[in-house]
Amino acid sequence: MPTMGALHDGHASLVRRAVESGKPVVVSIFVNPTQFGPHEDFDKYPRTLDADLAMLEALGVAATYCPAVEDLYPEGLEASRETARNLALPAVATTPLLEDRCRPGHLAGVALVVGRLFDQTRPRFAYFGEKDYQQLRSMEECVAADRARFGDLEIVRCATLRERDGLAMSSRNRYLSTEQRAQSLALSRALQSAHMSFRPADAEQMMRDQLAQSGLEIEYAVVRDATTLLDTTTFNAPTRALIAAKLGSVRLIDNVAFPARDPTRSKCPFAALFGFGTPTG
Ligand code: PAF
Repeated sequence: MPTMGALHDGHASLVRRAVESGKPVVVSIFVNPTQFGPHEDFDKYPRTLDADLAMLEALGVAATYCPAVEDLYPEGLEASRETARNLALPAVATTPLLEDRCRPGHLAGVALVVGRLFDQTRPRFAYFGEKDYQQLRSMEECVAADRARFGDLEIVRCATLRERDGLAMSSRNRYLSTEQRAQSLALSRALQSAHMSFRPADAEQMMRDQLAQSGLEIEYAVVRDATTLLDTTTFNAPTRALIAAKLGSVRLIDNVAFPARDPTRSKCPFAALFGFGTPTG
């Protein structure tokens, strides 16, 4: 399971799921420079190695892999960034204009490092959280497109773990001030209310209004086809509502799934989908 460390209960839930499979679990910790843009938080990304190792040991992982930059990028960082820029990425990593637009080069850096981590550790299963949904979809497509390289590797999707009040767990939540922590609830609340709408466009407007009212700077607040992450005009096929928004310098992302709605049935088909009162996993 690839991670960048600064592990929290969300990571722990993925690790637990992997350990429960009964197979030996390897967790990597590597803050990957090629997936950060020049003005992003690579330098100040939280690094909590001792606590991470203690958590992983308590969870019963078979091994922890903490590579140095040279182990993953022996050609040097500049050459690796160039390699990332030239990677052939799946459409879901380049066309939705979500993370691909807001963080140019990010998904290429993820695909590069994850591919190399897979080459080095040869996993049969790899666990990814749904919180980074475009990342998850991109890795599913990368693996499916290169069976010669990845063999029968399966990507295992793991549900987003939430704090009791609904905030999706993230290593970046620790950057939030008390006031921002309160404002951050606008993301999960906006996603929660999106399901009340009849059309994706209405849901998007509702999410944007709620985020703006809480003082968040919106990067995107959209409802998309759950597979392609492209625009959709109907809820009759599985969709995802996805948000990226900033609170000061802290960038938060979150998303929820809406199963296909049966147009012949109730008016509010997604009610009771959410358990925001309790942590969900
Ligand atoms: O989701 C993350 O923590 C990172 O993007 C990943 C998958 C570990 C690659 O560096």
